[in-house]
Amino acid sequence: MLLLSKKDIKEVFTMRDAIEANKEAFKIYTEGKSTVPLRTTIPATKQEGTMLFMPGYIENLDCAAVKIVSVFPRNEEKGKPVTPATVLLLDGTTGEVCSILDGTYVTQLRTGAASGAALDILAIKNAKKGALIGTGGQASAQLEAMIESRNLEEVYIYDIDIEKTKKFVSQMNQELSNYNTKFNVAKTSDEAIENADVIITVTTAKKPVFDGNKVKKGATISAVGSYLPTMQELDPAVLTRASKIFFESTDAVLAESGDILTPLADGIISNDDFNGELGQVINNEIAGRENDEEIIVFKTVGIAVQDVVTAKKIYDNALKRNIGINW
Ligand SMILES: NC(=O)c1ccc[n+]([C@@H]2O[C@H](COP(=O)([O-])OP(=O)(O)OC[C@H]3O[C@@H](n4cnc5c(N)ncnc54)[C@H](O)[C@@H]3O)[C@@H](O)[C@H]2O)c1
Repeated sequence: MLLLSKKDIKEVFTMRDAIEANKEAFKIYTEGKSTVPLRTTIPATKQEGTMLFMPGYIENLDCAAVKIVSVFPRNEEKGKPVTPATVLLLDGTTGEVCSILDGTYVTQLRTGAASGAALDILAIKNAKKGALIGTGGQASAQLEAMIESRNLEEVYIYDIDIEKTKKFVSQMNQELSNYNTKFNVAKTSDEAIENADVIITVTTAKKPVFDGNKVKKGATISAVGSYLPTMQELDPAVLTRASKIFFESTDAVLAESGDILTPLADGIISNDDFNGELGQVINNEIAGRENDEEIIVFKTVGIAVQDVVTAKKIYDNALKRNIGINW
């Protein structure tokens, strides 16, 4: 069995690799070529925590994986991560666990890569300005995916916590200095999105995080944060202005995300406004962007197939390069 840390994964797997892996994952999912049972949730009431077990199997790739993610808010007092995660990868030909991967980093990579895949496919070709809203745990991978998908001149970054934003921006200007993009602090979310060609929202917000009327024509938005009916980042105004709305999984988004469920319940949008899944665009079953004026929205809540494909590709690369600890 191969043990793969974040450092090992970084050595063998780039954001571009992750974007391509996630395009493949969305295609496999949309074609119905994956088995994804509902996740199992075990409450750890005594500790006010929750343990989540998220399995998935892809016959054609001969692999399965289960991601174990715990949410233990009291860990903060103990100086431990609040949402520790681990991925167990199984060899689909023997059923044996063949690798254990740093699940926190796999999650960041695959979640960033979902936005990267969407922007790669849907954004205008000569995008110049980006906006990132949210500077938490997922944000750095989202930012890297954004600038991997388009050669942007600048990205304006906003979070309600201004000090955190300043720190994040200065860190990213160093860590991602190999890309020719300048990162700037935005004082408001509207300043961030003004004139932006690509926008990513990755917050824990329960109310819209920017004014949808201010989104410029031709913009592409990837909304990542809302995974519960009570969470919402997207201003319904941008959904009514959008000429296309895509999901990574229609079933998952319509079961989980307040971004879509709230305006649906309010009658602001209807099911007829949804164009389908990104996997269908990848398969050329439905049209993606048709001109530079369209506002396009992609909503993702995250599906296990992304973890399975990403972990499998990382493992294959690590084996080839002899990276990781054999156990
Ligand atoms: N779609 C997916 O596949 C996927 C995967 C992982 C996480 N998520 C979700 O993405 C969200 C962000 O994850 P994270 O790990 O970065 O969380 P985090 O808690 O580390 O960071 C969230 C950030 O959002 C900021 N924020 C909250 N409300 C805001 C607002 N109104 N405007 C601007 N900023 C605001 C906070 O200040 C914080 O910096 C969470 O809801 C998480 O569950 C989605």
